[in-house]
Amino acid sequence: MEGKGGLIVTIDGPAGAGKSTAARMLAKRLGYRYLDTGATYRVVALKAIEGKVDPEDDEALRGLCRELRIEFSGERVLCNGEDVTDRIREQEVGMAASLISQRRAVREAMVELQRRLAAGGGVVAEGRDTGTVVFPQAEVKFYLDASLSERARRRFRELRKKGKEVDFTEVLEELSRRDRQDSEREIAPLKRAPGALYIDSTHLSPEEVVERMLQEVERRRA
Ligand code: DC
Repeated sequence: MEGKGGLIVTIDGPAGAGKSTAARMLAKRLGYRYLDTGATYRVVALKAIEGKVDPEDDEALRGLCRELRIEFSGERVLCNGEDVTDRIREQEVGMAASLISQRRAVREAMVELQRRLAAGGGVVAEGRDTGTVVFPQAEVKFYLDASLSERARRRFRELRKKGKEVDFTEVLEELSRRDRQDSEREIAPLKRAPGALYIDSTHLSPEEVVERMLQEVERRRA
């Protein structure tokens, strides 16, 4: 059922599958908001690193989450009013986010925040558990995948474009480690939600991925 503000569309999948590009483009085409759930975990990870919070201490993590006011303003991510958009994209923060997102205290706080941010519908949410845990009631769900080597190639090109000196093998190994961490964890592991349409983007351009998604949204709306 389409609410007044529009549908909830979810896109889950492993790192580097093209989720954020697809989600951003799809949201624009639909006139919806884009919700990057990974960014919320990245902000917590950044602040835990900065505040030297023990990533194993659930009480400390719960306290940290309570202190953070995470907001999205257009393309920017703000934490307590400070622009953290670029810092949360550091590789070190991505790895820490993958670890810290395994903690129940962090997941509970972030899921609550993500639901608040999506209130009213008209949202394309992207992450690892958006279709399974955060929005099980979402009207349209996707699981976006690509081969590990293609995902590593994309990540490698992206980092190089930003002027980062990176080694391809290292990028590939990091992605593979993150895949394992994200899909083997106990709470909200990365997996395909029932009813999610599986799209393999290995040989598809972002435009082709979004066209498939739009077709599916239209089909579900009809
Ligand atoms: O999508 P990303 O690379 O920005 O996400 C960073 C980490 O956050 C990812 O390795 C796992 C975690 N994450 C999560 O556990 N659940 C989500 N819905 C989104 C991200």
